[in-house]
Amino acid sequence: MKEYWDNRFISEGLIWGERPSETVYAAKEIFLENDVRTVLVPGAGYGRNTKLLSDTFQVDAIELSSEAITLARLWDSKSNFIEQSIFDLPDTNKKYDAIFCYGLIHLFTESDRAKLVNKCLEQLAQKGVYYFTCFSDEDAAYGIGKEVEYNTFEYKRGKIAHFFSEDDLRNRFKESKIIETGSLEENFEYANDTIKTYKLRYILGMKH
Ligand SMILES: C[S@@+](CC[C@H](N)C(=O)[O-])C[C@H]1O[C@@H](n2cnc3c(N)ncnc32)[C@H](O)[C@@H]1O
Repeated sequence: MKEYWDNRFISEGLIWGERPSETVYAAKEIFLENDVRTVLVPGAGYGRNTKLLSDTFQVDAIELSSEAITLARLWDSKSNFIEQSIFDLPDTNKKYDAIFCYGLIHLFTESDRAKLVNKCLEQLAQKGVYYFTCFSDEDAAYGIGKEVEYNTFEYKRGKIAHFFSEDDLRNRFKESKIIETGSLEENFEYANDTIKTYKLRYILGMKH
């Protein structure tokens, strides 16, 4: 996984462009309403979304790819980028007021998706809020490649993606208080001038 992402960041640089996702604006509003001061961002990439958060909150950004981190430290000088797999994050006493996690949870198998959610909820303070986005089962790429698990496809050699239905997403976060879920479309302009539209889902919730 690290090698795949390192190679992509080396060859494509700011892969998804400079614009933050519209979801990070929504998350920021909610974080402000909830008096958030500290935010954890797992799978932060090159800081496209953290930059909008770090001008207001204290942000720890966890990222597997050293190449992404090199780009991120130039793009967003205020977030604290930590090179690590989110699964290896040590259990410390530090608890965050909020988590923003964009486009990470769909990269894993069922057991790792469960581990990711548990790991993230563990890092949240009580009443801490989270905002996750993931691929929707209504996305055009749904069903492409070999189905390795239910609704999880190997769409490139060695690279899987899980496509969430509404129920699946709610079920994954059922140990917490789910506040809202929804769908959205996002467009990305890639370095080779192709534009792709993705159908995503988001989930907003709170740790009990
Ligand atoms: C689809 S990208 C999304 C990047 C970023 N959230 C954005 O929207 O610009 C997924 C990111 O997660 C990182 N990643 C993959 N597995 C990870 C893990 N186990 N721990 C931390 N980061 C991981 C990848 O290196 C990549 O930067």
